[in-house]
Amino acid sequence: MAEENHQHHHRGPWGHLVRGMWRSPLGILGVVLTTVSATLMFLGLIVEVFGLTDNIYVPILAFMILPGGLITGLILIPLAAYLRRRQWYKYGIAKDHLQINLSDHRHRRMVIWFTVLTVMFFSLLVVIGYEGYEFSDSPFFCGRVCHKVMAPEYTVYQRSPHAKVACIECHIGPGAQWFVRAKISGLRQVLAVMTNSYSRPIPAPVEHLRPARDTCEQCHWPDKFSGKKVKTFIHFTNDNQTTPEKVDIALHIGGRNPVTGEFEGIHWHVSKNVKVRYLAIDKKRLHIAKVKITRPDGSTDEFVKKDMKIPADINQSETGEDSGWRTMDCIDCHNRPTHTYDLPEDRVDFGLLSKKINPEIIGIREDSLAVLKADYNTRDEARAQMTNRLIELQTNRHGIDYVKRYDADLRKAGAYLLDAYLGNVWPNMNIKWGTYGSHIGHQRSDEGWGCWRCHDDEHADAAGKTIPQNCDLCHDEPK
Ligand code: HEC
Ligand code: HEC
Ligand code: HEC
Ligand code: HEC
Ligand code: HEC
Repeated sequence: MAEENHQHHHRGPWGHLVRGMWRSPLGILGVVLTTVSATLMFLGLIVEVFGLTDNIYVPILAFMILPGGLITGLILIPLAAYLRRRQWYKYGIAKDHLQINLSDHRHRRMVIWFTVLTVMFFSLLVVIGYEGYEFSDSPFFCGRVCHKVMAPEYTVYQRSPHAKVACIECHIGPGAQWFVRAKISGLRQVLAVMTNSYSRPIPAPVEHLRPARDTCEQCHWPDKFSGKKVKTFIHFTNDNQTTPEKVDIALHIGGRNPVTGEFEGIHWHVSKNVKVRYLAIDKKRLHIAKVKITRPDGSTDEFVKKDMKIPADINQSETGEDSGWRTMDCIDCHNRPTHTYDLPEDRVDFGLLSKKINPEIIGIREDSLAVLKADYNTRDEARAQMTNRLIELQTNRHGIDYVKRYDADLRKAGAYLLDAYLGNVWPNMNIKWGTYGSHIGHQRSDEGWGCWRCHDDEHADAAGKTIPQNCDLCHDEPK
């Protein structure tokens, strides 16, 4: 007894307190959690900084899960001590015993250790916090971590003109408010992925996308658009696989006319003091019943498509959260600025032009389109079957000798077509050819996509003037 007392005395009240912190199971858990998390985080940080692995679970662990462990551990240790406070009284520790006496060498050592460890922990947390924040904003995170879900968006993004623009530049943009909204909706999305409850395909248009004026206009703005842009379109037909039919158009990009100072042309819709609002009757915004415009001089006009019935659940009031009206911005035309899907005809025609598909093989355009558009249950099934199907169609057409002669060409074409398929179709996400249409132009106007949603000569104002479709409004022949 006497000896024990002596020991207690030797340890001092601080000694009991510190020992008490981690002598309970909870305290030990806290110490283990803290040490293991901190060590692994440190290792993960080194691996990431030196780029030693591409494994996406390393940054997820190091930057997102382990910091949680570290903080939990750091909370558990004092909590354990607090839960054992009865012991303090047993050892007779009173508040006034707990003084830090810097002339006591044990106290000095403790204070130094405590300071060093605290500084180390906080430095690690700051670096990890920063890396984690950068990481959770990177296209790699957005596109790869949810790899099954976002694979299509990431794949098509990588071949677009915005491949070097981070996802967050368009999906979050500047400012704290949208940052917080994005992280909250990000959490919801992670939950949806974990519970497998997300929609396939992910619906477009994105309902709560940040207004494009806040995002796109960081890099592009209507004042800077001007003049014309010449574009060449190249088509083949099943009857003519060898000589391309070329169409050149000069698009009236518009913007501010440097001579008159007026806004004109295609970007008139988003220019200063012009407001175009519309009422669509479907979620995809393909069917537009009414269009209202405000011109720079303040005059207004309303165009109505008379034969379009507006369903009762569309809120026609112009204001309020669930108003059916939308102010036109960049996305109403550039709905595919970076998630750009191709059309099968365009891929086949490009193959013929670039000779990846040998145009001399009779019937190859038609057969290519057939195998490209065929239904495959999975991407693996397409990998296994596409070239064989092409060869089979050609054999039916020409017999085995012809096919043997062109064997190498047919295999090359098959590989090219498979590539085109894999860049555009994800059966597991229900993304087929044409699922995500583009509003630039009118190539798919019969399905409701593009400029002719409004420019159809059928939306008329009270005086009978319509939103025009004359062919030289938007483009002419380049001179
Ligand atoms: C240049 C701007 C831009 C960038 C960069 C961008 N997006 Fe998008 N994204 C959009 C727009 C605009 C839409 C809305 C399309 C619509 O409303 O039809 C969209 C839609 C989506 C959708 C909904 C599905 C779809 O295709 O419409 C997902 C998912 C998505 N983006 C993920 C990403 C990911 C992941 C990245 C980075 C790898 C990324 N986005 C980068 C502009 C961008
Ligand atoms: C962070 C800067 C940035 C943001 C934000 C951005 N873009 Fe771009 N955009 C670029 C760059 C860079 C290019 C490529 C320019 C080039 O190739 O000359 C580009 C090109 C384009 C082009 C021309 C594409 C082509 O085929 O030539 C269009 C159209 C476009 N952007 C629209 C948009 C729209 C719409 C948004 C908003 C959803 C947007 N951009 C957001 C930087 C940006
Ligand atoms: C009325 C439809 C429409 C709206 C609204 C619209 N654009 Fe465009 N934009 C076009 C078309 C059409 C083209 C030319 C098509 C092409 O290049 O394929 C174009 C071209 C561009 C280009 C390429 C210009 C060049 O000289 O190559 C950029 C950049 C661009 N738009 C950005 C924007 C931004 C940013 C907004 C929103 C502030 C916007 N656009 C709003 C239809 C529109
Ligand atoms: C939501 C409806 C809507 C859509 C979609 C739309 N427009 Fe328009 N556009 C209008 C209206 C309304 C006018 C003005 C008509 C008037 O002034 O009488 C207009 C005017 C124009 C003008 C003439 C501008 C001027 O005064 O110089 C051009 C060019 C044009 N649009 C091109 C396009 C192109 C290209 C697209 C597709 C990429 C497109 N529009 C999509 C509604 C639309
Ligand atoms: C409201 C604007 C608008 C009007 C009106 C318009 N076009 Fe176009 N057209 C476009 C745009 C924008 C593109 C470019 C599409 C793209 O970049 O993919 C285009 C592309 C084209 C192309 C090339 C596409 C291809 O695949 O070959 C042809 C041909 C064409 N238009 C013909 C016409 C004809 C004919 C008319 C008159 C009936 C007409 N356009 C009226 C906006 C318009």
